[in-house]
Amino acid sequence: MIRQTFALAALSAGLFTTAHAEMESDFHESEIIQKIAFGSCSDPRKGRSPMFEAVLKENPDVFVFLGDNIYGDTEDMELLKKKWSELGDLEDFQKLRESTTVLATWDDHDYGVNDGGKTYKKRKESQQIFLDFFKDADDSPRRKREGVYGSYTFGTPGKTVQILLLDTRYFRDVLPGAKGPKAKGTVGWYKPTEDASLTLLGETQWKWLEEQLQVPADIRIIGSSIQVLAHEKGMENWGNVPHERKRLFELLKKHNANHTFAISGDVHFAELSKRDLDGYPFFDLTSSGLTNTQKGWAAATNSYRIGDSHPVQNAGLIEIDWANKSLELSIINKDGEKILHHPLKFSEMEFK
Ligand SMILES: [Fe+2]
Repeated sequence: MIRQTFALAALSAGLFTTAHAEMESDFHESEIIQKIAFGSCSDPRKGRSPMFEAVLKENPDVFVFLGDNIYGDTEDMELLKKKWSELGDLEDFQKLRESTTVLATWDDHDYGVNDGGKTYKKRKESQQIFLDFFKDADDSPRRKREGVYGSYTFGTPGKTVQILLLDTRYFRDVLPGAKGPKAKGTVGWYKPTEDASLTLLGETQWKWLEEQLQVPADIRIIGSSIQVLAHEKGMENWGNVPHERKRLFELLKKHNANHTFAISGDVHFAELSKRDLDGYPFFDLTSSGLTNTQKGWAAATNSYRIGDSHPVQNAGLIEIDWANKSLELSIINKDGEKILHHPLKFSEMEFK
C-alpha cells in the first residue's frame, strides 16, 4: 500500500521522475511491479460497475484506463468536464485512485467524438481537461506536446516494465468508411485504406515511439485504444490503415523489441489475439466493457482469436512472475473469475 500510494502521490505531485535524456521513458518509477490491470469502455451514467470492485480485489500495482473511459461525445467543454466528474465521483473510482497508480489514454468517446480523429475542433481543450482529470503534473511531458501519448517504466534492470500508451485519435486522418451492406462476419463499415498518406499516429508520435522502443525494458506493453491485430470486424482498428500497422511491426523487428505485446479496448467484449510476425508471436489482449458490452460485436470474425470472445463486463490482467521469467494474460469478470487466461514464458516472445 505504501509503495502504491507513493507511486500515485509521485505521479500526482510530479515527483515521478520525468525523463530529460534520450532513451528514457517519459516517466520512471523504480518500484518493481508485478500486476497490471486495465479496462475500457466505462460509462458512469450507467451507474456503479462491479468491475471496479473486482479490480480492487486484485490489488494491482497499476491500472490503465485504455479509452472510452467516459462517453463525452461533445464539443461543449463544460459538459465534457461534467462527464469526467461523474467518473471521478464514483466511490470505486476514488478507491482505485487511492490504492493503485492510475494511467490513462483515450479513445474516441472520451476524446470527444464518435470515431473521431484530428478534425475534432476541441482536441486541444479536451486534452487539457483529460490531463487535469488524470492529475498529470504541471511539468508532465503530456502537457508540453499535442496528444496524450506517454511512456512509463517501472522497476530496475532485469525487472523493468515499460507501458507505452498511444494516442490513436489526436493525429488520426479521416479514414474512408464504406457505408453499405455489411459483409458476412462484419459489424461495421470500415475497410483497409490503400492511401498510404493517411496516418493513425502522426509523424511526431511515430518518432517518439521509435525512440521509446529503444528504452531498455524486460517487458514492454503497447497500450492502444483500438485493436491492433483483429481487423475483420469492419470496426475501427489498426487494420484500417495497413501501412501504419506494418510500420509498427517493422519497428518492433528493427529494435528487436522482445517480450512485447499489445493491450487494447473499444469493442465492448474481451478476446485474446495472436499473430505470427516472421516467427515472433505477437499478442493483443483486448478488454472492453467495464460497463458496456455487445454480444453481436463479439460474434464478428477474428481469425487471430485464441479461444472465445467474452461479451460480459470485464477487465484485463497481466501478472508477471519475475523469478520464473513468465507472465499470464487474463480477463476477469465481475466476480473476479478468470474467464480467459494464457500463460507465457518470456522466451516465447522473442525474435528468432
Ligand atoms: Fe471507441
